Amino acid sequence: MESPKRVEHQLTDKGYVPVYTTSVVEQPWDTYTDTDHQVWAQLFERQKAVLPGRASDEFLSALAAMEMTPDRIPKFDDLNPILRAATGWELVGVEGLLPELTFFDHLANRRFPVTWWIRKPDQMDYLSEPDLFHDLFGHVPLLMNPVFADYMEAYGRGGVKAHGIGEDALVNLTRLYWYTVEFGLIRQKDGLRIYGSGIVSSKGESIHCLESDAPNRIGFDLERIMRTRYRIDTYQKTYFVIDSFEQLMDATGPDFAPIYERLARLESVPAGDVLDGDRVYNRGTGEGWLNDGDV
Ligand code: PHE
Ligand code: FE
Repeated sequence: MESPKRVEHQLTDKGYVPVYTTSVVEQPWDTYTDTDHQVWAQLFERQKAVLPGRASDEFLSALAAMEMTPDRIPKFDDLNPILRAATGWELVGVEGLLPELTFFDHLANRRFPVTWWIRKPDQMDYLSEPDLFHDLFGHVPLLMNPVFADYMEAYGRGGVKAHGIGEDALVNLTRLYWYTVEFGLIRQKDGLRIYGSGIVSSKGESIHCLESDAPNRIGFDLERIMRTRYRIDTYQKTYFVIDSFEQLMDATGPDFAPIYERLARLESVPAGDVLDGDRVYNRGTGEGWLNDGDV
């Protein structure tokens, strides 16, 4: 494995983080320790137990189709033929967070960057940056779904475009990613389910987002989401619910340029606010919320 060079620090959701010039690295599979494989196994088994009845049917069937198993950390080279055959996506290994434009370019070309290293045993419940479990278990299964696969590519292209427009446009677009790809809920015939990767890779939030009275659960509304601030250090105060991946794809199809222009003149919405016009599934009690710290 070539060692990546840290070249600059970029201000992101996680504060200043090093970003890397050498974006793609070989997954150094032989260097995983027994502890690494055990961490994978424990996280995998825990989520396999929590997710039935909570994660969307699309996520659960895609997870089964991917043939990931708890016994050892999967090899990207074994998963790639399955993913390529399903939707043309492939995984590439990375050291961690990438410069925004590099990340968007990967997505626009149906390459999903996966952090190769896994968290330590004392980080089972929380860590502040994405690791292998979040990226692989959380994000990759839905790339098997044709509609969601198209959404992620479209998002990548939209990101390249927003990057050329300016910082405010990127903020609006990042909120959309946060409240869909990372923390989205979906309405199924039998009730609300999870599809967001930040939720499916977390035991605590998998239960909290559906079963707690504290958070708001509100119907998807593109511009509303693009105005809404969010939490990076606690469970979300608000989750947005889509009816289907087709709805998400259709709603995000139009050119965002005029939307960015319009939103630039509006105030952002605090993470926990409920607005007139919201389609409210649950009005959160706000129990346990911190008053500051929305980003
Ligand atoms: N339609 C968006 C644009 O014109 C691109 C996009 C698609 C963004 C899907 C996010 C998700 O910028
Ligand atoms: Fe993520």
